[in-house]
Amino acid sequence: KMGYQIAIDGPAGAGKSTIAKLVAEKLDFVYVDTGALYRGLAVHFLKEGIDETDETALTKACEKARIDLAYENGIQQVLLNGENITSLLREERVGNLASRVSALQVVREKLLQTQREIAQKKNVVMDGRDIGTCVLPEAGVKIFLTASVETRAKRRYEQLTREGKQADLKKIEADIQERDHRDSHREIAPLKQAKDAVLLDSSDLTIPQVVERIIREKENAS
Ligand code: C5P
Repeated sequence: KMGYQIAIDGPAGAGKSTIAKLVAEKLDFVYVDTGALYRGLAVHFLKEGIDETDETALTKACEKARIDLAYENGIQQVLLNGENITSLLREERVGNLASRVSALQVVREKLLQTQREIAQKKNVVMDGRDIGTCVLPEAGVKIFLTASVETRAKRRYEQLTREGKQADLKKIEADIQERDHRDSHREIAPLKQAKDAVLLDSSDLTIPQVVERIIREKENAS
């Protein structure tokens, strides 16, 4: 029996993971952060010292990498060839490399199967860039979650400041714009709203308001 699928796509920093986690908690679904799979593969490329412009090397490295998801107290963990590498995923260079290599066919194909397998066995709230358009085209609910560049940059800035880290608002804004552009202009599975997705702009909504909207969509759909 197929699990129930809720797909949440949108640009970096729109609040997808926060929202998706809360929706999953409320519904007792499994939250799947697909960006972590791309980041996991990026960690592998960094460890192996792969030249990202060398397609042959990248293809070989993809074949050698086994990426699995596991859950520890309900929190998603990424295993790279059996080793838990979750603590490395949020590094800036990992995110940047993930964004660049995610444009490549070998990388997307490798991870497509992994994502579909997870969604088949369980009820999931899956977040990413192409979940509603490519990974789970039959998802029961599809959400396209956005927020203005300014809002997203400000949120990221505040998060870094809270963590006691140095942050430059203008640089964060430029990074977000660059990543948006790359994600939505790549040839394969670009970031875009699925035809049957509900558009939610979180710029002027609170977190509980967004969560509530999504739960309502699910109730109306089923
Ligand atoms: O969401 P997160 O920032 O962790 O994703 C890292 C990168 O992985 C993104 O910049 C995006 O390019 C890529 N990605 C993707 N498709 C997904 C999830 C993430 O291309 N479904």
